[in-house]
Amino acid sequence: MKFFIDTANVEEIRSAYDMGIICGCTTNPSLIAKEGRDYVETLKEIASFLDGPISGEVKADTVKAEDMILEGREIASLSPNMVVKIPMTEEGLKAVKVLSKEGIKTNVTLIFSATQAVLAARAGATYVSPFLGRLDDISSDGLILIQDIMDIFSVYPEIETEVICASVRHPVHVIECAKTGADIATVPFKVLKQMIHHPLTDIGIEKFKEDYRKVFS
Ligand code: E4P
Repeated sequence: MKFFIDTANVEEIRSAYDMGIICGCTTNPSLIAKEGRDYVETLKEIASFLDGPISGEVKADTVKAEDMILEGREIASLSPNMVVKIPMTEEGLKAVKVLSKEGIKTNVTLIFSATQAVLAARAGATYVSPFLGRLDDISSDGLILIQDIMDIFSVYPEIETEVICASVRHPVHVIECAKTGADIATVPFKVLKQMIHHPLTDIGIEKFKEDYRKVFS
């Protein structure tokens, strides 16, 4: 499983990238708004050092396919690594079809059913992003969705669309997604840190120091 970071915070992206644990990044209008910075400038700054796929979403109030296509082309022109993130709607699918025919990579977001994932793949999506945590939030098992999509995609080898497990809330989500064989998990910085740290590692480091000091100090 590959990891993307799910944030628009450049410091967090840089930090995870420097550790060698991520190879891409996903943003959305909420994450961009949280940083309070210019959208295009933020995406450009990320693209200045991250040499992997960077998802930039069409604006929250863009609903017509024609507008998504225009905005998608602008996002794609920022860097060869840009991926245009498009919501799973009828208009969104039309935009995905046009953009993918132009060679522009797309990430269909807000996927909450396997049928949505299959249709997005057929429209030409490079990635689909099923939202795990938001399903869990409403007492529906998000992991079943990931497993269903993986099962269906594996029956049809001609589907090249990669699955990005999104709305990841904790390390157990990551483990469970990895077991399904999903291609990518996009993980918030906080969860990446939770995945790195273990109390027994910290205790082990202290014990090594203590034992060493006892003899060599
Ligand atoms: C995915 O690309 C989305 O940006 C993200 O995973 C949404 O996560 P949330 O449900 O925690 O907002």
